Amino acid sequence: MHQLEQILTHYGVEGKVEGEGVGPLIRQIRFKPKPGTKIKNITSSVEDIARELGVKTLRISNVCEGGCIGFEIANDVFKTVPLEEVLESDEAKNAKGALPISLGVKIDGTPVFADLAKMPHLLVAGATGSGKSVGLNAFVISLIKRKKPNELKFVMIDPKRIEFSVYNDQKYMYMPVITDNADASEALQLLVVEMNKRYELFEKSMTKNIEEYNEKEGNMQYIVAVVDEFSDLVLSDKTVEKKIQILAQKARAAGIHLILSTQRPSVDVVTGSIKANFPSRMAFKTASGIDSKTILDTTGAEDLVGRGDALFLAGNGELSRIHGAYISTEGIDEILKPYRCKIAPVLKKKHESDQIVVEKEKGKKVEKKKEFFLIRWIKGVWGWLSKTEKKKFLKMIWLLLIGAFVGSKTKDKSGQIFDSIADTLTKPKRRTYTTTRKKTTRRRY
Ligand SMILES: Nc1ncnc2c1ncn2[C@@H]1O[C@H](COP(=O)(O)OP(=O)(O)OP(=O)(O)O)[C@@H](O)[C@H]1O
Ligand SMILES: [Mg+2]
Repeated sequence: MHQLEQILTHYGVEGKVEGEGVGPLIRQIRFKPKPGTKIKNITSSVEDIARELGVKTLRISNVCEGGCIGFEIANDVFKTVPLEEVLESDEAKNAKGALPISLGVKIDGTPVFADLAKMPHLLVAGATGSGKSVGLNAFVISLIKRKKPNELKFVMIDPKRIEFSVYNDQKYMYMPVITDNADASEALQLLVVEMNKRYELFEKSMTKNIEEYNEKEGNMQYIVAVVDEFSDLVLSDKTVEKKIQILAQKARAAGIHLILSTQRPSVDVVTGSIKANFPSRMAFKTASGIDSKTILDTTGAEDLVGRGDALFLAGNGELSRIHGAYISTEGIDEILKPYRCKIAPVLKKKHESDQIVVEKEKGKKVEKKKEFFLIRWIKGVWGWLSKTEKKKFLKMIWLLLIGAFVGSKTKDKSGQIFDSIADTLTKPKRRTYTTTRKKTTRRRY
């Protein structure tokens, strides 16, 4: 009798172990329960079963071939799946779709590919060190292996500054790698503009999407925007979520696709609107079951083993366990070598002219615009003056200017001119007085 069968009988669950598969990170025991067995009886005792089996993590997968329940146990030694191997497999060659990306391998080691163009966008989350950046690199490299630089361009946003620096200055880039939040917001805006331009082209050419347009007119490139850590971006600029929403809803037909990643899958970052627009999601090991629920709408990602171990939720709601393939920065550099070239910046850098200086004041971040002292002083005095004083001041300046002009023409009369200016400035009071008197006189008649 299999050890698992024996342990399960302690919990009133009867059935038979049908088989076992060993993958690079975990082994899966397929257990077929007797008809009428409630899966709740097993899932509610998962921690006790793990203890009795003598394993640290145990995940139960209730969608398994042949009506079985999968008991997934971490291996003692983890094997790394090299991306190069995955990309040379038959599955890679046969991968269908416009933008096939390598998700990694299944529990039995079979490579898994999915078409980003159909997803049409992907949301990635996981705790720090769980394998998100390696995963994003694997997606990008699998696309680069498949598409030429004139067919595909990337927009890469990397607030951490180290993850995507290897992609700078290469033909596949739509613009240089972005590391600044303000630039990132501008880049997303640029993508919205590009999307609208593309829709105008579709209208003119009587086509509906990039595939039809390329068949008829040709030469429209796919654009994939990859954001490694979008939480700061969303929290620092309220317009970012709106831009992501617009792109996620409309950009698919225009050949623009988003891959967003975050280590902070909280509800203020992975909002309802973002989730609604990203049906395809990938969760690497999360810090808690709550994080797993936020990203996948179910727990389970907290029991993954890390090192690229992930749960992939397909657009149709199917959940599968996948182990991400690994590629090092040196490996990426090697692949990108033939595509090195200088990329011209496309952002206007408007915000840079303002020279935003961030000062830490009493623990709070305060943003100040650097301005010339005299301008600040004039602005301050101007705000302090009343409306009538402002009028008088402007009048004086105006008359001084006329005076200076006329004075320069007739040198000897300049003294008289300044006298007349003084008269004019004091005159208004007398005028008001006379008018009132006149009015009163009229009334008497
Ligand atoms: N698929 C994989 N196969 C083998 N090892 C991996 C894999 N993915 C990640 N690792 C290991 O885990 C380490 C951390 O991975 P990675 O940098 O991708 O984590 P991360 O989720 O991006 O973390 P952070 O949120 O801190 O940026 C890698 O340096 C590598 O050693
Ligand atoms: Mg990372």
